[in-house]
Amino acid sequence: MAFVVTDNCIQCKYTDCVAVCPADAFHEGPNFLVINPIACIDCDLCAPECPADAIHQEDELPAGQEQFLALNAELSEVWPIITEVIPPPANADQFNGIANKIEHLIIE
Ligand code: SF4
Ligand code: F3S
Repeated sequence: MAFVVTDNCIQCKYTDCVAVCPADAFHEGPNFLVINPIACIDCDLCAPECPADAIHQEDELPAGQEQFLALNAELSEVWPIITEVIPPPANADQFNGIANKIEHLIIE
């Protein structure tokens, strides 16, 4: 079992989550983080820390967020690990809570 980063992280990317992860399971893209499901030890430390409430256990994903299960697995194979908190995007708060931000997801 692993935790999954979902839609509301996109363009918010607060990174509070990485500060508490004991498994270095987070990987960083341009405007989104994902969790490596192989590295994640299912400890639930990160979910309460996210100001965007974007992290959920894989079997408790909110309706409509199912695609993020595969997206976390796929992108964690290509994006680098992030272990330090970094400043969020300047417009992060404006994006917090907007639905269906996946159209803004940048994949490099
Ligand atoms: Fe890291 Fe634990 Fe969150 Fe998994 S559940 S990503 S191990 S903090
Ligand atoms: Fe994203 Fe929340 Fe972490 S917005 S970067 S999952 S603290």
